[in-house]
Amino acid sequence: MPVPFKKLNAEDLAVFRRLCGEGYVHTDPDDPVWERATHDETEDLQFAPEVVVRPPSEEAIAQILRYCNTQNICVTPRGAGTGLSGGALPVFGGVVLDTSRLNQIVHLDEEGFYVVVQPGVITQVLQEAVAEKGLFYPPDPSSRGSCFIGGNVAENAGGPRAVKYGTTKDFVLSLRVVLADGTIIQTGAATLKNATGYNLTQLFVGSEGTLGVVTEITLKLLPHPRHRLLMLANFRDAETACASVAKIFKAGYIPSALEFMERDAITYTLQFKPDIPLEVPETTGAQLLVEVDGLFQDQVQKECDGIFEVLESQGAFDILFADDQASQNRLWSLRRAVGEAVKAHSIYKEEDTVVPRHQLPQLLKGVKEIGQKYGFQSVCYGHAGDGNLHVNILKGHLSDEVWKNELPIAISEIFQLCKKLGGTLSGEHGIGWVQRQYMSVVFSAEELAVQKKLKDLFDPKGILNPGKLLP
Ligand code: LAC
Ligand code: ZN
Repeated sequence: MPVPFKKLNAEDLAVFRRLCGEGYVHTDPDDPVWERATHDETEDLQFAPEVVVRPPSEEAIAQILRYCNTQNICVTPRGAGTGLSGGALPVFGGVVLDTSRLNQIVHLDEEGFYVVVQPGVITQVLQEAVAEKGLFYPPDPSSRGSCFIGGNVAENAGGPRAVKYGTTKDFVLSLRVVLADGTIIQTGAATLKNATGYNLTQLFVGSEGTLGVVTEITLKLLPHPRHRLLMLANFRDAETACASVAKIFKAGYIPSALEFMERDAITYTLQFKPDIPLEVPETTGAQLLVEVDGLFQDQVQKECDGIFEVLESQGAFDILFADDQASQNRLWSLRRAVGEAVKAHSIYKEEDTVVPRHQLPQLLKGVKEIGQKYGFQSVCYGHAGDGNLHVNILKGHLSDEVWKNELPIAISEIFQLCKKLGGTLSGEHGIGWVQRQYMSVVFSAEELAVQKKLKDLFDPKGILNPGKLLP
């Protein structure tokens, strides 16, 4: 593919040094900042940027974009690089615009229940800062200890608690954004309601740095729940576990998390985290991890008891209760390590499938059938309450030839199944570089053309994160 962008020269680098400061422009492959920018957490993909710049401010970002737009230099915005769809990969080289120096919590409004943050704040740091004031920011991707809130906005990240509280998009009230030509705009307002004009805020959420660079984010907060209970239920087989999920909601409950792990996911994770002891019965084919939260202990306990009954009636056995913080943390750290554990096991591709939750058993069944047809092993886990199943396809013994040429056909079949079941390509990891080739499975040519027009409107020269999101 011919690269349509200008190659950087010494003059360009001098401009970046002036805008960022001497120590914040990285071109040396031995420099850890440069090296980190060659990859994110997506598979084993690597691309070399020409330069990584770390601007100190919104104004510097605006000047960098203005310059790059004029010079036809491509720019890949980057947060912490924990993404799983390749959104931060510099596939055309050019500039990686690292947002790590914009790492301030600008204003925490306890009365207004909102917080204004810069994009480089680590999600867990934000969660802990607001929790100290009795406030709650629920979206909690597994990478929350290292991911940036800016990346969460870019990819519309989710996490286990989305099932009750929603994903990142449900908390973003307002944004400051630098557009491709350096123009700075503010969208939305710090209000819960807003019926004022086009909803540009939500257009930028999940736009993966293809429409602008977010420099400030206003997030809605909630009162922090005071009590939590966690249950781990064993099932003989994965489909029965998945079929129980919708039953819990039918019975009137909304758990604060409802996670699914099939046997291999559990086994690999226990091997990966041997310091966390957990006895798993021989006959377990899958587990559901169910959390309930609330203001009052007795109410949380009652909901838990009710869900326990539903689980038992669906064939769950050996249901483990974790009521103290330490045992809850242990179970959560196991669950949050599944992705890493599978990755440590084999080269893999991770699909972020999502369907209406009652279709989860059909999705799982179909994924396994497609696996048999093409001869691959998949390890499935994820946010069952959201119908969001992470399908990790292991390379295992597959030849490079099959991996490269046949697997995309199999993955396309998985996505066709998602569409048939009323679902789509990605629940929370985004499209980025690795899923864009499948966009035409769920969108018609006309639907893609509308999205392309939006892209052209905001970024007519196509300098912002080229190669991402759209096919
Ligand atoms: C998780 C990440 C991979 O659910 O989304 O652990
Ligand atoms: Zn997930």
